Amino acid sequence: MLVTTLAHRAALLSKGQLKPSDNRIACYMHGFEYNVFTGKLESIPNKWTNQSEGWKECGELILYDVIEDEDGTNSIDA
Ligand code: FES
Repeated sequence: MLVTTLAHRAALLSKGQLKPSDNRIACYMHGFEYNVFTGKLESIPNKWTNQSEGWKECGELILYDVIEDEDGTNSIDA
């Protein structure tokens, strides 16, 4: 799985925190948490609950399969 930008405000998820025990990645900017296998938003921190629905609106992550070749190089199955 490879994801580069976030569905919320286009932050770089490479700066996020992976949470393997929950199968989630948390965005460094607002802390939205997405399932890394489904791409679906699973959690928004309580501090953002009073924000408008428009502000909280976001899509799902676009996930790509990463293929590791025999020579150790990686490619994306897009
Ligand atoms: S930009 Fe990532 S949660 Fe808002």
